[in-house]
Amino acid sequence: MTDTKPLVRRSVIMGSGSALPLRIMTNADMSKVVDTSDEWIVERTGIKARHIASDSETTRSLGADAARRALEHAGMTAQDVDLIIVATSTPDQTFPATATLIQADLGITRGAAFDIQAVCSGFVYALAMADAMIKAGQAGCVLVIGSETFSRILDWTDRTTCVLFGDGAGAVVLRGEMVPDSPASRGIQVTRIRSDGRYHDKLYVDGGPSTTKTVGHLRMEGREVFKHAVTNIASIMDEAMTEAGIAPKDVDWFVPHQANRRILEGTARKLGISEDRIVMTLDRHGNTSAASIPLAFDVAIRDGRIKKGNMVLFEAMGGGFTWGAVLARY
Ligand code: UT7
Repeated sequence: MTDTKPLVRRSVIMGSGSALPLRIMTNADMSKVVDTSDEWIVERTGIKARHIASDSETTRSLGADAARRALEHAGMTAQDVDLIIVATSTPDQTFPATATLIQADLGITRGAAFDIQAVCSGFVYALAMADAMIKAGQAGCVLVIGSETFSRILDWTDRTTCVLFGDGAGAVVLRGEMVPDSPASRGIQVTRIRSDGRYHDKLYVDGGPSTTKTVGHLRMEGREVFKHAVTNIASIMDEAMTEAGIAPKDVDWFVPHQANRRILEGTARKLGISEDRIVMTLDRHGNTSAASIPLAFDVAIRDGRIKKGNMVLFEAMGGGFTWGAVLARY
């Protein structure tokens, strides 16, 4: 029987890649910097280690490495790309956009490149933007990169924040394809993004070009963020699945932003998701903000857990507050 469903333009994930700084900093190393312990960090967050960038490893270099690996994995070349979106809150420079720097590194002279700043939700925002551009016919092949060097904006005397974050980058290649209009077809099915700026001062950086003329340091009311995280994430995941007409049991893999193991477990409990379908990498990467989802996705693709045809749900919440979810069949 032939499929009679109308064809629609979908953004199909063609490949993924990631890059991590060489230096690993364990919780034991961290306890030499601030008054903390492996026991406290593991119990409260699930984090055991994180990668920390050297001076020569930057958001640009990590992002470019992840992008090259994603293109190689997709079996495509940089010349296939006509849009680059980099999600980052730690750009190499205030401007130009890190995306344009990576565009130059990849030798691409056509199309467009820009950054998106939605902190830890940045990768989900970037996927939503890339998908909209592909569906609108504005782009055919998009490199979506999440790259961060949060170690540069941490207050290394503040144990309530510096133990949580790490550096790294992940990337996916999206390509517009005409497929039957069905959840069984590959590609992004639903994107949902939200924000509520009333909470801008719960997780922020206390500097910027227009105010202090400095880069500033990350500040967070951890408990406040935690309180909103489970509710916001569970509700946006629920909205995305409802819009797609599927239930949690139809999702093969949940690839969440990696902030805190307890947040992931709380969300899973709320939605009735078994933990063996959640990709967790925060034990080795810590919270890498906009890079955490593509990093986790790449790990699970390369170790064989996520396979072609699997339904995957990405979700995140971060400073702003911002939050969002993307449902895609890989
Ligand atoms: O990615 C963006 C989204 N970010 C998040 O989702 C982060 C959300 N928040 C969290 O993950 C958690 O709130 C934290 C992990 C940041 C903190 O965990 P918590 O269970 O909320 O701890 P708390 O802030 O309530 O602190 C408990 C105690 C305090 O001591 P007292 O006041 O009870 O004596 C802290 O001073 O733990 C102390 N503490 C530490 N102790 C050892 C705080 N940080 C540390 C530390 N080592 N690193």
